[in-house]
Amino acid sequence: MPEGYDYLFKLLLIGDSGVGKSCLLLRFAENSFTDSYLSTIGVDFKIRTVELEGKMFKLQIWDTAGQERFRTISQAYYRGAHGIVVVYDVTDGESFEHVKGWLTEIERHASEGVRKLLIGNKSDLVDKKVIEYGVAKDFADEKQLPFLETSAKNSTNVEEAFLALAKEIR
Ligand code: GTP
Ligand code: MG
Repeated sequence: MPEGYDYLFKLLLIGDSGVGKSCLLLRFAENSFTDSYLSTIGVDFKIRTVELEGKMFKLQIWDTAGQERFRTISQAYYRGAHGIVVVYDVTDGESFEHVKGWLTEIERHASEGVRKLLIGNKSDLVDKKVIEYGVAKDFADEKQLPFLETSAKNSTNVEEAFLALAKEIR
């Protein structure tokens, strides 16, 4: 694990409860996964330092709770974020419907110029998928958001997602 770093970026994960925010972070920071669901209480964070084109980037990633009762706590973390990841679950139509609301939260509470990324997680659950890639991609294009489908379970695009956001900030 490298100790020094050239840049410190603060990233924030938001989205409905159960979409897989904590699992995405666990995959990215510790390369592990668990099927058991432990809903986040308040706010949590993990750190990973990555090298991009010869520079070390320390990514401090804040993982918020999707549950309504923690909304006020989470809002306090928007301001300091350089990048915000909005996550929905491709098997949960409601979580995709709620993305608009999460984007409004960003407008309200984040700093101007914050970078955003939309993630449709659980892409491994092909048979249960209800939000097609094209539908989400059209929405993302309309909102000028970069978009990726990921799976925290089988690692698909997780690395790519966080690195893409870090590159946007840099
Ligand atoms: P809150 O903390 O309540 O906001 O939820 P969260 O968004 O952090 O969800 P969490 O990461 O705890 O995951 C919820 C459930 O979805 C868990 O049972 C995970 O195992 C499961 N899960 C997360 N990511 C994936 C994935 O990519 N594929 C599959 N199949 N299951 C996943
Ligand atoms: Mg969580």
